[in-house]
Amino acid sequence: MDKRKIILDCDPGHDDAIAILMAARHPKLELLGVTTVRGNQPLNVTTNNALNICQWLNIDVPVCAGLDRGMVRPSPIGESIMIGERDGSGLDGHTFDPLTKKLDSRHAVDFIIETVLDSDTPVTLVPTGPLSNLGMAIRKEPRILEKIDEIVLMGGVYQHGNFTPAAEFNIYADAEAAYVVFTCGRPVVMMGLDITRKALCLPSVVNRIAKIENRASQLFVNLMSFFNRSQKNTFGWEGAPLHDPTCVAYLIDPTCIETKEMYTEIDITGGPSHGRTNCDFFNLMTDKPRNSKVCINLDVAKFWDIVEDCIKLYN
Ligand code: RIB
Ligand code: CA
Repeated sequence: MDKRKIILDCDPGHDDAIAILMAARHPKLELLGVTTVRGNQPLNVTTNNALNICQWLNIDVPVCAGLDRGMVRPSPIGESIMIGERDGSGLDGHTFDPLTKKLDSRHAVDFIIETVLDSDTPVTLVPTGPLSNLGMAIRKEPRILEKIDEIVLMGGVYQHGNFTPAAEFNIYADAEAAYVVFTCGRPVVMMGLDITRKALCLPSVVNRIAKIENRASQLFVNLMSFFNRSQKNTFGWEGAPLHDPTCVAYLIDPTCIETKEMYTEIDITGGPSHGRTNCDFFNLMTDKPRNSKVCINLDVAKFWDIVEDCIKLYN
């Protein structure tokens, strides 16, 4: 069976790290590269983190750095505080070896364009951070759209936000880029907070993964132990929500997530609801085309089975 070609565009970040881990080894997926963007942390930090994750897990793919700010507006200040990434590295909890993996010299936007155009089969884009790189790539080279089969992104929410009352962080951080993506005409699968908040990495999950005893489980346990503490301090939760890995779990086994087609519009008005994903949940309020498959439920048990299976693929 042909592997599904993907590019993971991310802002590591603890949950992004687990998404990279899952995407790199699964037999259904071919990870063509990792691109980084400012989000949980400044660009130099998210990029360094992506390199460290790939080196620790011996993932031999290009890592390309992208935008260090939004397409239009300045990036939000103090974002790492609001979503619980309080630490200085964005990956506190785990000690990496001295970094020797080199950054690919191509800009993330150029890597996305070049890789998609050169591919002999369609490519799935998997953004798990602000959408700045993808938004720029679409505007710079619209021809990539005909070779993108789907955009499976972590972002948005049809209930309450996590950066403002209205907006989820990834969308808010570059709402104009999100507008470009949601209006580009290619299918968008939106993993919003509505379901990612169900992927809570409870202590029982950490203990389950600790039994696997390989480099991937070591990374998972160290990162999640820290992430759980920081999220408990910030939000009082018993387990940190593993937002980004839901995208990869969907690619591996879409039956773990229920989706509903609906029209979604991004608020770019700069007002109190800026960055809101306005989802026409009942498809009654607008006559606009259903541009997104919004995720409305997660099979939590199946999700953690997928995560565990991915970690077992490492030696
Ligand atoms: O709102 C949660 C999202 O913002 C996650 O992708 C997290 O990693 C941050 O990028
Ligand atoms: Ca992320």
